[in-house]
Amino acid sequence: MSNVHLVDHPLVQHKLTLMRRKDASTNSFRRLLNEISMLMAYEVTRDMPMQDIEVETPLETMQAKVIDGKKLVLVSILRAGTGILDGMLTVVPGARVGHIGLYRDPKTLTAVEYYFKMPGEMENRDVIVVDPMLATGNSAVAAVERLKELNPKSIKFVCLLTCPEGVATMQKAHPDVPIYTAAIDRELNSHGYILPGLGDAGDRIFGTK
Ligand code: URA
Repeated sequence: MSNVHLVDHPLVQHKLTLMRRKDASTNSFRRLLNEISMLMAYEVTRDMPMQDIEVETPLETMQAKVIDGKKLVLVSILRAGTGILDGMLTVVPGARVGHIGLYRDPKTLTAVEYYFKMPGEMENRDVIVVDPMLATGNSAVAAVERLKELNPKSIKFVCLLTCPEGVATMQKAHPDVPIYTAAIDRELNSHGYILPGLGDAGDRIFGTK
C-alpha cells in the first residue's frame, strides 16, 4: 500500500494490544492512547524542515537547528480525535490546533459537517489530521477535502487503526495524503466498525455509552 506508514515500533504495538482488550478501563484506554500518540507524533514529524540559527552556549556561539516555518497545525476530527491530539500536543506544544466536527450518518455512513475552525494563514502551514479510527474513510476524506480549500503546504493523516477499506477510500480520494497508522486490521463490518478493532474509540476514550 503506497503512502501508508505502519508505525510498528514495539512500544506502539504493545500499547495498542492493551487498548484492544475489552476490559481495559476508560482510564487506561485514554492513557495508552495518549502515550501512543506521543510516539506517533515522533514518526509523523520526522521529515519536518529545519533551519540553522545562531545560539550562544555558555562557552561559544554556534549554528544549531530549529524547526523551520510557521507553526504546525494539528487538526482533530471531533470527538475521538481529541484522544490523539492531547498526546501529540505534549510533544509538539507549540502547534496550532484546528477542529472539524463531523458525525457519521448511521444510515448512509457518510460524513456530515457541523463545526469547522482553523488557525489563520493555513496556506503557510503543514497540517496533521488526527482521528483514531480510519474506518469507512468517509470522515477523513471529507475533512481533507475541506482542508484543501484552505490550500495548506502539506497534509498528513494520523490514526491508530485502519482497515483495507478505509485505506482504499482515502487513497482513492487523496493519494497525496500519507496515512500513519499503528495497524491495518482485517475488515470493516456492515455497521462501519473495524474488525477485530477495539470497539468505538470515542466511547472508550470518554467512557460514554
Ligand atoms: N469508529 C470507531 O470508533 N470504531 C470503529 O471500529 C470504526 C469507527
